[in-house]
Amino acid sequence: MTSVLFVCLGNICRSPLAEGLFRHHVERLKLTDRFLIDSAGTGGWHEGEGPDHRSVAVAARYGVDISAQKARKLRMEDFERFDLILGLDRQNVIDINRLHMITHPSRVALYLEEAQDLKRDVPDPYYGDTRDFEAVYKLCDQASQKLIERLVR
Ligand code: 4NP
Repeated sequence: MTSVLFVCLGNICRSPLAEGLFRHHVERLKLTDRFLIDSAGTGGWHEGEGPDHRSVAVAARYGVDISAQKARKLRMEDFERFDLILGLDRQNVIDINRLHMITHPSRVALYLEEAQDLKRDVPDPYYGDTRDFEAVYKLCDQASQKLIERLVR
């Protein structure tokens, strides 16, 4: 069993898509028993809220339902529970590492680098438009498939 936590700033735009698409491909590949999957935000402003309607809408256009997710803040116990904690952008990784101690079992990495060796951020679409959410969807769709390939190897 591999446990993976996807982390962005608010846990309403990017990490719900990263979580939802990772789960979608895990289910499609019948690997559900192999993974524990969740997401969180480094900030807690949207705690308890569902994903941003624009993230829900872009996923729904491709037949993926992320509407049941609930935002939460990253907490210390995540560093005990998750094998891999992936920051969607480099600032997220910096913020995660502020809490991460060397004694914690979790490994912290940049999402696109871990998935496909790209030292690139998934850009924050919060102040953007539909095209920005579409771009996040595409990045997460490809990255989650590559990440699964790497993690099951
Ligand atoms: P996310 O996007 O980190 O992809 O969920 C954001 C969501 C909310 C805020 C910023 C970014 N905010 O400032 O509330």
